[in-house]
Amino acid sequence: MVAPAALITGGTSGIGRATAELLHRQGYRVAITGRSESVARARAELPDEVLVLAADLGSLSDTDRVVAEVRERFGALTTLCLNAGITRPATLETATEAAFDDAFAVNTKGQYFTLVKALPLLVDGASIVVTAGIGASRALTGNSITAGSRGALLTMIPTLALELAPRRIRINAVSPGYTDTPMLRSTPGMTPEEIEGMLAGMAANTPFGRLGTPEDVAETIAFLASDGAAYVTGQEILVAGGAGLAV
Ligand SMILES: NC(=O)c1ccc[n+]([C@@H]2O[C@H](COP(=O)([O-])OP(=O)(O)OC[C@H]3O[C@@H](n4cnc5c(N)ncnc54)[C@H](OP(=O)(O)O)[C@@H]3O)[C@@H](O)[C@H]2O)c1
Repeated sequence: MVAPAALITGGTSGIGRATAELLHRQGYRVAITGRSESVARARAELPDEVLVLAADLGSLSDTDRVVAEVRERFGALTTLCLNAGITRPATLETATEAAFDDAFAVNTKGQYFTLVKALPLLVDGASIVVTAGIGASRALTGNSITAGSRGALLTMIPTLALELAPRRIRINAVSPGYTDTPMLRSTPGMTPEEIEGMLAGMAANTPFGRLGTPEDVAETIAFLASDGAAYVTGQEILVAGGAGLAV
């Protein structure tokens, strides 16, 4: 039997990278994308069989190239993880058009058209997992632009699930709570000490008393990708240690 094959956008760092490592250990053939220096790091550190592609998912021509390279390497895909994402923290007072356009270009348009363009590669019965975020459905001051861009994709999921159902292709979302990745640790304008303080505060405010790990989220993505979730589609699973449950 041919090994399953996964494309993970934003697989060079954080949650995407943990997912790439887990699926590779489970016997998948894996392709990942990234945009900056994380690409070279992933190429150096991940097993040679993992296909690491530099691509800006805000660019549809880059996405065409990724799909062509994945077709060339794997022929078809059993799993698509739409995981790449950016945050653009801003309140109404500090919002800019550039921040708004960046967030929607990557988190909404980029992910949507990755699905559109990768669809011909997906086998019947394939699984698509979208990484959204708890902030798409819960209030967090300064998160409105990021929330809107992630939430836009989240609201499409039930409709996409129906459109894909005739081919038994499943699409589900995983929404991380605060997860200890380079994204949280590179918050602009903060010193390392301030970041440590912020992370400690986030952990203290989470019912489980700790931040999520990339591996926590990767395990749920891998479950949704697996045959164990063969009858699950159109759903969102929060991986957040109880965050967001209290009224
Ligand atoms: N960490 C959290 O607390 C948290 C909470 C809720 C939701 N999320 C979501 O979880 C997903 C993964 O985040 P993470 O925490 O693992 O962050 P991360 O460590 O910053 O990883 C993000 C990944 O996306 C890639 N990426 C970003 N913009 C891209 C673009 N335009 N084109 C191609 N690749 C791009 C990054 O590549 P480069 O590094 O090369 O740019 C990187 O591989 C994101 O969608 C994020 O919004 C995270």
